[in-house]
Amino acid sequence: MIWHLKHALSCAALSAASACSGGTGAGGNYPRDHAGPHEGGNANTDGSAAPTWTRLYADVISNQCPTCHYPSGIGVSLGRLDMSSPATAYTSLVNTPAAGDACAGHGVRVIPGEPDASILYLKVSLNNPLCGARMPLGGPALSDAQLSQIRDWINAGAPDD
Ligand code: HEC
Repeated sequence: MIWHLKHALSCAALSAASACSGGTGAGGNYPRDHAGPHEGGNANTDGSAAPTWTRLYADVISNQCPTCHYPSGIGVSLGRLDMSSPATAYTSLVNTPAAGDACAGHGVRVIPGEPDASILYLKVSLNNPLCGARMPLGGPALSDAQLSQIRDWINAGAPDD
């Protein structure tokens, strides 16, 4: 009788910490029940989903291009391309013919759906592009991930979103 009482008491104390047989069921299953949905929700398809223009501008263009491509920079005096804000860059790029000293007459900067015909993509991805120099001029080339972002965005139709 005394042993039973002691056992019941210690079991009650332990079960508060989920270590007694009665308490492990619900407490122990809780994290496992939630592992599935969390893993599924975290599945990151980075690279396969096309970035928005807003994200592309923030991740790729804004750090590396407006240093020259702003109104009094050589990217505008020689390249005639202003990328100093997302809105200006978008209208200067999409469906707009190249106009710089080297590239005028060589095609269109961004043709929605056609990265390999878009001067923007050719100039950041090729060491010897069809006109002028590889961009960013004089700087390290864009990373493969950054090139994919540009490519995916153009393939998605170069949306302004
Ligand atoms: C160090 C200055 C500099 C930087 C940085 C730079 N550019 Fe340029 N860009 C130029 C110059 C100068 C030209 C004109 C000569 C040429 O086309 O190669 C130009 C031309 C261009 C053109 C052709 C425009 C046209 O219509 O003729 C594109 C497209 C371009 N740059 C994209 C970019 C992108 C995208 C970045 C950032 C990843 C970038 N540039 C960074 C200086 C720069």
